[in-house]
Amino acid sequence: MTAPLTIAIDGPAASGKGTLARRLAAHFGLPHLDTGLTYRAVAQALLQVGLPLDNEALAVEVASGIDLAALDRQVLSAHEVGEAASKIAVMGAVRRILVEKQREFASSARGAVLDGRDIGTVVLPGADVKLYVTASAQVRARRRYEESIAAGGKVDYDDILADIQRRDERDMARADSPLRPAEDAHLIDTSEMDIEAAFRAALEVIDSARGAKQA
Ligand code: CDP
Repeated sequence: MTAPLTIAIDGPAASGKGTLARRLAAHFGLPHLDTGLTYRAVAQALLQVGLPLDNEALAVEVASGIDLAALDRQVLSAHEVGEAASKIAVMGAVRRILVEKQREFASSARGAVLDGRDIGTVVLPGADVKLYVTASAQVRARRRYEESIAAGGKVDYDDILADIQRRDERDMARADSPLRPAEDAHLIDTSEMDIEAAFRAALEVIDSARGAKQA
């Protein structure tokens, strides 16, 4: 049996970390968790019944009931859910509950791929490989813009860029588990890369990290 492999991937919105995480999970045959969906699920549950997003006790109660096996990417992908999730994500007590569920997921015998904002720094500080995937705010806004247009949406590039900058600011400035690269993370800047190039860059990092471990 091959040794377990745990891969932590962090980065801002539309950096390409999610697609990369899915590709790596498929390549290595590992379970994958997009931890953003856990914050989104709490936000969605509150939005759905019209409850406030700034009541920590309520959010904690909802977070405790989140079932990782029942996360529905389709339902949770709405733009306003992402925006609400980043408000929920500043609450330390909510984070502790979700982080515990995420660690449990990662403890599978084979290992796992987790992507989010605080995986290398908080959730899995001992991960075998840590990647920090980023790209300029303009490139990320352009990607989101093109995705929305392709899906038949009517969106404005400047609005999307402003959204991305606001979310970056909220995620990087919060006191609890801010978005930042772990000290031992490998940086992959995808501003000038397509997904294939990012995948190859990540494989190179992972292969050399594993080689170094076995040596
Ligand atoms: O893909 P996108 O950046 O739009 O959002 P996401 O990864 O689904 O995350 C939504 C929000 O959840 C982020 O803006 C973060 O505030 C929060 N989040 C977090 O705080 N920690 C994580 N490990 C994952 C997401």
